[in-house]
Amino acid sequence: MSGFWYGGDYNPEQWPAEVWCEDVRLMNRAGVNLASVGIFSWARIEPRDGEFDFAWLDEVVELLHRGGVRVDLATATASPPPWLALAHPEMLPVTAEGVTLSSGSRQAYCPSSPVYRRYAGRLVEALVERYAGNPAVELWHVNNEYGCHVSHCYCDTSAAAFRSWLAAKYETVDALNDAWGTAFWSQHYASFDEILPPRAAPTFKNPTQVLDFDRFSADELLECYRAEVAIIRRSSNLPITTNFMGFFKNADYWKWAAEVDIVSDDAYPDPADPLSPQYAAMQRDLMRSLGGGKPWLLMEQSPGAVNWRERNAAKLPGQMRAWSYQCIGRGADGILFFQWRQAAAGAEKFHSGMVPHGGTDTRVFREVEALGAELRSLSELEGLYGAAVPADVAIVFDWDAWRAVEQEASPTRISYVAGVFAWYRALSAAGLTVDFARADAALSGYRMVVVPSLFAASDGQLAALDTYATGGGTLVVGYLTGILDENLHARTGGYLGALRETLGVWIEEFAPPAGPDLAALGGRLAPPVAVQGAVLGGAASATLWGEYVRVESPSVSVQAEFDGGVLDGLPAVTRHERGSGTAWYVATQLDEAPLTALVDAIAAEALVERLPVVPGVEFVRRGSHVVAINHSGAPVTLDLPGTDALTGASGDGLVLAPQGVAIVGA
Ligand code: GAL
Ligand code: ZN
Repeated sequence: MSGFWYGGDYNPEQWPAEVWCEDVRLMNRAGVNLASVGIFSWARIEPRDGEFDFAWLDEVVELLHRGGVRVDLATATASPPPWLALAHPEMLPVTAEGVTLSSGSRQAYCPSSPVYRRYAGRLVEALVERYAGNPAVELWHVNNEYGCHVSHCYCDTSAAAFRSWLAAKYETVDALNDAWGTAFWSQHYASFDEILPPRAAPTFKNPTQVLDFDRFSADELLECYRAEVAIIRRSSNLPITTNFMGFFKNADYWKWAAEVDIVSDDAYPDPADPLSPQYAAMQRDLMRSLGGGKPWLLMEQSPGAVNWRERNAAKLPGQMRAWSYQCIGRGADGILFFQWRQAAAGAEKFHSGMVPHGGTDTRVFREVEALGAELRSLSELEGLYGAAVPADVAIVFDWDAWRAVEQEASPTRISYVAGVFAWYRALSAAGLTVDFARADAALSGYRMVVVPSLFAASDGQLAALDTYATGGGTLVVGYLTGILDENLHARTGGYLGALRETLGVWIEEFAPPAGPDLAALGGRLAPPVAVQGAVLGGAASATLWGEYVRVESPSVSVQAEFDGGVLDGLPAVTRHERGSGTAWYVATQLDEAPLTALVDAIAAEALVERLPVVPGVEFVRRGSHVVAINHSGAPVTLDLPGTDALTGASGDGLVLAPQGVAIVGA
């Protein structure tokens, strides 16, 4: 197929068969060409242990096929049926507090459970045997959002699996004792048999045990995925995917991305949040980057409101379309929704669908239909579908560093993704398109690499960053980097590890601005930090963090200083020439304006290409086009050379209404 995918989750088992024909008719009307079928159908496919009923699914698949709608066939393993849990209660997940989670919802399985895996495997075998050769099937959709509700299970089965995982990793229990630092608080283990998952405990748990359990838990989910893939691969060469969840802490998607044939993502930005367009843009860029720049698929978005926020805002007129084009601009080759027909019963009946409760004479359906038609015509356009999104800048993103910096008992309560988002916003505000990368990826193609914080990092990761800078790159390192190694042991003798050479500085002590806990009982608002430096545009404000930065190389120039407080007059931003490159260090969380000024100055030095900058308007280049989206509440006039593929108008002087989109090509 060449052309944008368009469609969504299709749950025909929730409807009588009469509705299915109408569904296909309406899908045709809406331009739907791909439907994800069977995601939650286990109980319908296998109503009793070992009894499979495929007749209904055969009919659905056949109807779709005849209607020209390709099938993204799910393996249906995401929600085990009640009979399985009744027969094998040991396959139910258990929380850290020891609570067993029951059926009656979804995802009620322990990822390590051999029972779950055996039954899931049998189901997948049956499905694959029946549909591997079916001409309707385009893609395999394994499970659904692995770990969304149950990412960690603390049951005895998981405990045993954790012990085996640890034995494979450490080989000897002494090596584990060293890595976990169990000399602390009398935590020494004489044998692997003594080890438990980090269940509810009186106070702070062993940090390395917690991190290893995070790693183990994510690996167990990945094992479930691999097991299903292995079964599919015995009989089918079709592409296989499982839907990611953007910035999801409990699965290291760098690992997962290597194992899916196409990266697919579910994204539900909140229409009520003015930062949503930027946050969503960041998520799309992560998805593109996970696949190494290859086109990805938006597997789920909502046509209108969701049902799971405290307040579920409807999308503004045109917003669904605008956010869909954001995905296209940032490298997606398909736009799909959760879900096709809004459910009439069950926990998601208030979640919007492409066909709303109100039917087709509705705003949502009209917008769905209009976008389908547009995407069909855009599929013909040269230089958009399948094309690459160029980026000169990369942000280093690391799941272990994320898990580590947000552990309890850390220097300050911090959100890793909030820190990344601050950099992302500043880079976008400076007209830069960003990829995400691992610290030890091939970075030399980027003109500028930003490391928002790499709290826990291996020597190898730090050395790779140094190699990048030394080789001529522009490296920008944020606070709380290189504090711990990969076992969460402190880097003694001065923080930063190998980056000390790179940056020409080391960190002596932390000095985060602390709120007056007693005075502001419950409030704990940290006071702002004043900084100043020409590179920030003069006097500026920061929050959250400060450090005693010790300059040790004569070729370091201090670009900004703390102004007042315990850090008064000490460096806040430094610049170091390293090899043929440059390495910057930023020791606080600069506010948006000074951070943008800084990024702007660094990018000017690094000769990074820019896109236009207009407040409230998003620009991104894909292939030979620039996609412009007006997220603001007022019309804006564009000044882009070329013609808008959507209207045929010139990009120079083109007026974009709020939520308006232009796709301007030379
Ligand atoms: C996703 C999930 C879908 C549906 C949707 C609702 O997380 O994969 O099945 O529940 O959320 O927003
Ligand atoms: Zn378990």
